[in-house]
Amino acid sequence: MKFALALSMVAAASALDFSAPVINESIINKVNSMESTWVAGVSPRFVNATVADIQVLLGAVLSTHEGSTHFDHAVRQDHTYGLVAVPDSFDSTTDFPGCEDLIAHVRDQSSCGSCWAFGSTEAFNDRRCVAYGDKQWYAAEDTLACCSGIRCGLSMGCNGGQPTSAWKWFAATGVTSGGDSDVEKGSTCNPYPFEACAHHVDSDTYPDCPSDEYSTPKCTESCIDDGFKTAYADDKVKAKSSFTIRNEADMMEEISTNGPITAAFTVYEDFPTYTSGVYQHTTGKSLGGHAIEIVGYGTEDGTKYWKVKNSWNPSWGDGGYFKILRGSNECGIEGTVSAGLV
Ligand SMILES: *[C@@H]1O[C@H](CO)[C@@H](O)[C@H](O)[C@H]1NC(C)=O
Ligand SMILES: *[C@@H]1O[C@H](CO)[C@@H](O)[C@H](O)[C@H]1NC(C)=O
Repeated sequence: MKFALALSMVAAASALDFSAPVINESIINKVNSMESTWVAGVSPRFVNATVADIQVLLGAVLSTHEGSTHFDHAVRQDHTYGLVAVPDSFDSTTDFPGCEDLIAHVRDQSSCGSCWAFGSTEAFNDRRCVAYGDKQWYAAEDTLACCSGIRCGLSMGCNGGQPTSAWKWFAATGVTSGGDSDVEKGSTCNPYPFEACAHHVDSDTYPDCPSDEYSTPKCTESCIDDGFKTAYADDKVKAKSSFTIRNEADMMEEISTNGPITAAFTVYEDFPTYTSGVYQHTTGKSLGGHAIEIVGYGTEDGTKYWKVKNSWNPSWGDGGYFKILRGSNECGIEGTVSAGLV
């Protein structure tokens, strides 16, 4: 919806009612009456949220968006895919011993279009654990605030960005430590500044999401937690490489070998109502581009899927996760894929 996306969204969004509720009974009933491969319902994360509220979260530039300038990059040069047997199903949240708790942790981007920083930083974080057993939390905040402008594919913080360019930036600049907003004081350089939230749910678990989008944190090149004693520059950890991944088989090999990967897809009006099963677009218009982390894959009742970790806290979807159709570039999910060696 922002900057580069604005061009395509003008056409796509012309008929959208921004004040309409995201969770709409008629959409839920329509999806469920179609007996698709997934079940729609009311998500606590978006009870009472409007279309405008959810568009705030959709900050990814997709290669498929007309009029957008998507900065793609090269495939791996150091590896030939297809030479090893890849498992038929794999789940990074359980299949990398010692990293289960770290990889299975679901974050919350709060009211900011930082999905691109989450989908990329989380995959970097999880790959560090897979490669070295590293249990540090890395900072979506550092990526959000400091991966910007020309060196980050013209990413613009809470107004959206390019997850593939974030991977390039991990290799060039590195990223600091930093967990959720409630991470222990003094333990990381750049904890996320915005707390997990939900839209007007009477719940003790999450406070209300603010009615206005947060503005992008400033890149100060210093640790925002003043109790953290390592200097910002010394805290940076770099990736060894960054690359794009261009097909289903290579994505499966990357995930089962090196850990989760970063991807993006088009969110349609039916998607926020996802509760279980294998999502495929059934009804509704495009709301925007969303970046996420693909953590696994498999087959459910004969339907091939990617298992995806979202950044809308565990109250959304299936414990914070969703499955989406695999092998047919559903909603562009196989079109903007990146990762790196860490
Ligand atoms: C719910 O969705 C239907 C179908 O898209 C639409 O006609 C209706 O106006 C929506 N309801 C509200 C309250 O916006
Ligand atoms: C949704 O909003 C209405 C009106 O603002 C309020 O009365 C209701 O309690 C809200 N629902 C939830 C679940 O928070």
